Amino acid sequence: MEPNVFNQIANQYDTEDRIQLARRILETLYPTLSLGQKKTLLDFGCGTGLLGIPLTAHYNEVILVDDSSVMLEVLQSKIKTNGILNAKTMAVSDLSGSKVLPVDEILLSLVLLHIPDTEKILRFLYGLLKPGGKLFLVDFDKNQRVSHPKVHNGFNQKNLQELIVKIGFRNVSSSTVLEEKKVFMNEDASLFLLVAEK
Ligand SMILES: C[S@@+](CC[C@H](N)C(=O)[O-])C[C@H]1O[C@@H](n2cnc3c(N)ncnc32)[C@H](O)[C@@H]1O
Repeated sequence: MEPNVFNQIANQYDTEDRIQLARRILETLYPTLSLGQKKTLLDFGCGTGLLGIPLTAHYNEVILVDDSSVMLEVLQSKIKTNGILNAKTMAVSDLSGSKVLPVDEILLSLVLLHIPDTEKILRFLYGLLKPGGKLFLVDFDKNQRVSHPKVHNGFNQKNLQELIVKIGFRNVSSSTVLEEKKVFMNEDASLFLLVAEK
């Protein structure tokens, strides 16, 4: 089996650049999230929790899910150090059949580009949401300067919206929210936020 690249970088993941990017993503997310409404958020592909940890202040419960066990270890130590009581970490394999499901909202930030089968993962996430629940998806716009065998070079928002509607989501909207320097495989790139309802 191939080594999980995120296991290898998890302990060095929180660089100043990544922390600042996460802050800017959070700022664009805050006006759209259901903050303070006693809801449950699932942060899928949460990494070290740069988004999920600050969001614990605004949700009843935040479920932090990742397929890198080392990312989850880093996260667990942050949760403990900060005395956070309403966060739960979980491996992807433990999600199915878990009592935390279905959830009110799902956040997918900078994760879709790393998953080969886009439709399959979005269908899976659709199944984890309550009726009326929302998906918040942050990722890179299609970027012809980026080419990597293991990573999508961003997404065309219109194509992604069509796929998301085909899966069954409604009230789908998206727009470019950030323009960043050297952020996507060391190339300048823009990021979009897509919001969709089950
Ligand atoms: C670039 S990091 C983003 C972390 C965080 N969401 C953020 O915005 O700071 C991508 C994360 O997605 C996780 N990931 C990649 N493929 C995944 C999959 N199939 N299922 C769950 N997590 C996955 C990686 O382990 C990694 O922690």
